[in-house]
Amino acid sequence: MEITKMEFNVIKSILDLLSFLFVSTLLVIKAIFYGCLPKSYKKKKNFENEIVLITGGAGGIGRLVASKLAKLNAKIVLWDVDSAGLEDAVNQVRGIGGKAYGYKCDLTDREDVYKTATKVYEDVGQVTILINNAGIASGRLLLDTPDHLIQRTFDVNVLAHFWTTKAFLPKMIESNHGHIVTIASLAGHIGVHKLVDYCASKFAAVGFDESLRLELEKLGVEGVKTTVVSPYFVQATGMFNDVVSRFVPTLKSAQVADEIVEAIELEKLSVIIPGYLGILCLKWVLPWSVISLFMRNIVNNPAPTHAEVLPEDKRKEGKTTFQRNAETELNHRVHVTEKR
Ligand SMILES: NC(=O)c1ccc[n+]([C@@H]2O[C@H](COP(=O)([O-])OP(=O)(O)OC[C@H]3O[C@@H](n4cnc5c(N)ncnc54)[C@H](O)[C@@H]3O)[C@@H](O)[C@H]2O)c1
Repeated sequence: MEITKMEFNVIKSILDLLSFLFVSTLLVIKAIFYGCLPKSYKKKKNFENEIVLITGGAGGIGRLVASKLAKLNAKIVLWDVDSAGLEDAVNQVRGIGGKAYGYKCDLTDREDVYKTATKVYEDVGQVTILINNAGIASGRLLLDTPDHLIQRTFDVNVLAHFWTTKAFLPKMIESNHGHIVTIASLAGHIGVHKLVDYCASKFAAVGFDESLRLELEKLGVEGVKTTVVSPYFVQATGMFNDVVSRFVPTLKSAQVADEIVEAIELEKLSVIIPGYLGILCLKWVLPWSVISLFMRNIVNNPAPTHAEVLPEDKRKEGKTTFQRNAETELNHRVHVTEKR
């Protein structure tokens, strides 16, 4: 009996679907089994010969991760625009017996990124773990956010990931050994008012990680891993430390740093901190009004601690920068105290 071309295509599609379902089931069982294994049984990365570059290394999370990785014998390279903070962070790592090198680099300047990457290669060696951690937030309503701040948010929070990855990934692929880590945010999975540019850039960072991972898999590069970490608001860093949160407590920076290090050590693909907020994936099935009710009430003011005072703000109110700075700081403190 002869089958037509159309019948052949239908049979082939059914067989494809069945084999996809079979392989997927095996992969799900494997993932569940691996997820249930105690941590002590899981394979851990050895940091002994790793050179770890952390962008935004002078900031709260970057600095803590640097110290923790230095204790695990990794060689640390820190990048930041803040020279004083950078020097302090490098000394901190060296103070605990770690090896650390600091480079001033402005991530909004692509040429500076490439130039500094070459310098790191010559001075320290081939970076094997890249942690794209630097981040910035404008913390204003969209219509109050000047264009240059929106541009800066995207430059630091996502475009810089392209430049750093293009600088370090080729050597990782060549040696089939490396790890690209993206420090995104829970704001990369769900929107937050006053953080429109920040959220959009973090959604992009999450997409960057996922598509890069797929691309590496498609290319058959098995030795280069990617991880994306998405924390909720964190206390005591330079960013959102005074944010008052309802329902969900803000995170301790040391806890976040521990989870980042563990994610790299176990080569996890995606980590949400705290894990139970993974429930927010229900946003795809719940009515928008439920998500909106939750998100509108979870934080009243997500503006960064020291929201910048811009010349246009000064002009608007005819006040000096000093007056505006003092007032912004005072209003912010009063607001936080009232909330508490
Ligand atoms: N703090 C939080 O609540 C929170 C929550 C979720 C995600 N995150 C993310 O974690 C990462 C680290 O944040 P953090 O809390 O440590 O903030 P932080 O402000 O303490 O550190 C950020 C660092 O990035 C550096 N940086 C900014 N612009 C730069 C540029 N152009 N070039 C080079 N360096 C630059 C800053 O100087 C600073 O040292 C960020 O990506 C942030 O978005 C933070």
